[in-house]
Amino acid sequence: MCSPLRKKLPDFPWDALAPYGVKARKHPGGMIDLSQGTPVDPTPEFIQKVLAESANSPSYPTTAGTPDLQEAIRTWATSHLGITGEFDVLPLIGSKELVAWLPTFLQSQVVLYPRVAYPTYLVGAMLAQAQEIAVDIDAASWPKADLAWVNSPANPTGRVHTDAEYRAVIDWSRKNHSVVISDECYLEFGDGVTPTSIFNYTDGDNTNILAVHSLSKRSSLAGYRAAFMVGDPALIAAIREIRKHAGMMVALPVQKAMTQALKDDAHVAQARARYNARRATLTPALIAAGFRIDDSVAGLYLWCTRNEDAWASVDWLAELGILATPGTFYGPDGASHIRIAMTATDAAIADAASRINAAIKG
Ligand SMILES: Cc1ncc(COP(=O)(O)O)c(C=O)c1O
Repeated sequence: MCSPLRKKLPDFPWDALAPYGVKARKHPGGMIDLSQGTPVDPTPEFIQKVLAESANSPSYPTTAGTPDLQEAIRTWATSHLGITGEFDVLPLIGSKELVAWLPTFLQSQVVLYPRVAYPTYLVGAMLAQAQEIAVDIDAASWPKADLAWVNSPANPTGRVHTDAEYRAVIDWSRKNHSVVISDECYLEFGDGVTPTSIFNYTDGDNTNILAVHSLSKRSSLAGYRAAFMVGDPALIAAIREIRKHAGMMVALPVQKAMTQALKDDAHVAQARARYNARRATLTPALIAAGFRIDDSVAGLYLWCTRNEDAWASVDWLAELGILATPGTFYGPDGASHIRIAMTATDAAIADAASRINAAIKG
């Protein structure tokens, strides 16, 4: 018997892309996979070393995280988010875990999420059996709800919130006494801009405001499952209590690796430079092929359109052995865009640009 919940959830979108993967793999040069935003650059060696040295780990880890990890997150949040006032922190098994389960933890009834967005916001609302409403960026237009997601820099668009947009979000939260959770997992990856955290705008009153951060992209740690949340101490205390029951502790060797990773900015600067250089390599080739690049000023992606059906663009690139993601994965408003991830080696990105340039020269 198929579970009613399984029937309610959308089909896993990546399955629909599989035939284009088959086509792309037939290219004589092999497939260049720019679809999933999964890092390919090695985990920095100093982080690997901490993990390996922590391999002897017979005891259970705590949900709250080691005192060292909590301190590292607090210090990082103060210096990188500009957070002031009372706040608490909580380690997570990747930010996807929180995105999928936060509405359940908070027993949210109505959940707002961006119209073009990471699909798990919708899935999380469905798991909680909440009403889900896709909204525009401007929070002045939002209906009442008990929980709202914002995402800046955004996946898939690479768009960054302005000061005024953040202030409107906070006004909405204060007016409605509603929780806002800001997904900031690409915060350190600006390209000519410096993305800001929601905590720049709370003036030290963090009531009902949360942010989630991830080390998956920042530190090439996606395989470790390492993330954390920051914000309203009362909300974090409540979520910590639920997670203590639910068994979602971060593995102790991973907690130790996270602690050291958060103390170092040099490897993040290198990652940012690498991703931005790849974006600079691919952008002119895509423009020459008739694509318009929208937003894409931060994060890991190029959000492009040729004003055609997204699947037609995906198919054209698959002929060249390049796999991209149709914008439809991120909501109906993405129907004529594709998302191209910078998560391939420099050589593969250069190869992709050459294949596109060769194709348009005919
Ligand atoms: C906007 C956004 N939030 C959350 C995640 C989940 O990341 P992770 O679970 O690796 O921390 C992703 C992953 O791509 C994402 O794009």
